[in-house]
Amino acid sequence: MRTVRTIAEVRETLEPFRGSTLALVPTMGAFHEGHLALFEAARADADCVVASLFVNPAQFGERADLNGYPRDEQHDARLAQEAGVDLLFAPSRDEMYPPGYETWVDVERLGSALEGEHRPGHFRGVATVCLKLFNIVRPQLAYFGQKDAQQVAVIRRMARDLDLEVEVRVVPTVRDADGLALSSRNRRLSPEERERALALPRALATRDAARARELLRDLDVDYVEIADFDPCVLAAAVRVGDTRLIDNVILEGDDE
Ligand code: PAJ
Repeated sequence: MRTVRTIAEVRETLEPFRGSTLALVPTMGAFHEGHLALFEAARADADCVVASLFVNPAQFGERADLNGYPRDEQHDARLAQEAGVDLLFAPSRDEMYPPGYETWVDVERLGSALEGEHRPGHFRGVATVCLKLFNIVRPQLAYFGQKDAQQVAVIRRMARDLDLEVEVRVVPTVRDADGLALSSRNRRLSPEERERALALPRALATRDAARARELLRDLDVDYVEIADFDPCVLAAAVRVGDTRLIDNVILEGDDE
């Protein structure tokens, strides 16, 4: 696996692979089994797997959340290599947003509901960085986790609206044995907070918004809503101490 930091290096490295199937897995690092499941799916489908590792400042509202985001590139690089990633693109902030940067993608309706309501500007940052990554790597396939169901909906909408040629593929949510969806934010939970956080997967497992709200009454809830994404999900966001957690379950057909 090669690690590169510039857009020019990505283009140069991928030149020989232009005739083959190229997959992109966009990430912000702090890899766990959820990310590895995306790498494995990409590895199974494509000739060349590119992962991006960029803690995208444009999608963070609070500076403290951005600054506190876990970063361990060496460890991530080892995990990515073991999972069969061919190229890791880990750009600097200036490489992605050079001085004078002023162009943004806004997926208006989908990007302003639920997560978008509680994190204004979040999906503008996500859509913009993903479009840039799609343009830099030019993958046929891009992999996203069902864990962030609204993110998938936003990226799909953008791909349709802007006539992108990328095919978005979605990987089921990976959970710990106790049901908590894996997230880089879970490591911030104290043992007591983690116990309380388990109410989230338990509530969603009812697949009933009213019952889920009842089960979450002791937590600080941002929303518990049925969201008409494709597929339809019961989605929720809660705060446990200083940590904000999101999760969802698919309401149609078999579980995830
Ligand atoms: P990040 O939080 O690093 O997540 C990268 C990808 O891993 C996303 O598609 C996310 O949905 C997926 N993922 C996270 N936890 C998962 C889990 N438990 N099971 C399955 N998949 C999981 O999402 C982002 O980064 C950023 O918004 C990004 C798309 C990279 C744009 O900056």
